Amino acid sequence: MKYTIAIDGPAGAGKSTIAKLLAKKLDILYLDTGAMYRAVGLKTIQEKIDIQDIVKIDAIIEDINIKVRYIDGKQHTFLDDVDVSQKIRTSEVSLAASNVAVIKSVRLKMVELQRSIAGDQSVVMDGRDIGTYVLPNAQFKFFITATAEERAKRRFLEMKENGEKNVDYDIILEDIKYRDKNDSNRSFAPLRKAEDAILVDTTELSVDEVLQKVLANMNA
Ligand code: DC
Repeated sequence: MKYTIAIDGPAGAGKSTIAKLLAKKLDILYLDTGAMYRAVGLKTIQEKIDIQDIVKIDAIIEDINIKVRYIDGKQHTFLDDVDVSQKIRTSEVSLAASNVAVIKSVRLKMVELQRSIAGDQSVVMDGRDIGTYVLPNAQFKFFITATAEERAKRRFLEMKENGEKNVDYDIILEDIKYRDKNDSNRSFAPLRKAEDAILVDTTELSVDEVLQKVLANMNA
């Protein structure tokens, strides 16, 4: 059985948790597309490129070297052949990723890469435009969301658990609201629920409840 599964939704809704569990259960490829936009964001930081400088961004994106490899079943993202999987998780990079993701040339390039990584195999991809743009013919589409406050609370607890210091709930909430607005209001392939996607509001649900809901909708 071949699966193509698209999971979209705003930042911090739990998309990647569900996508990873699904990929494991079905033994299929998982592609975290946000990691690729994060790598582009990191590149602009490293090269000190102004986000408004579309000409420069158009130029670097043409031959940007982003690769995805799977090591022990886990996605690693490489920028210029350096494993940046950890480096792309900072809030500075989150912001840069959301900002570069509004640029059309960046999106076209990432979508081309995403489709080529998936190829013909079964895949679960998570992102913002998977069901609407990257895989419009996906067999299963889910839009996973939760209130901004709940998403900020989860991110806050996760950061605390990871031993991060100076974690501020209000800053996390602001960051989430900024990214929601930026990701939803861009003109090209914005964050939007595909008409045929199933909406799953996870605000009141546990991870297992979300997974069961998704699997039930797939009859899997
Ligand atoms: O899923 P994430 O938080 O790692 O994504 C980082 C940013 O990348 C997000 O704010 C918007 C952008 N993004 C996108 O525009 N389209 C995708 N398919 C995935 C991510």
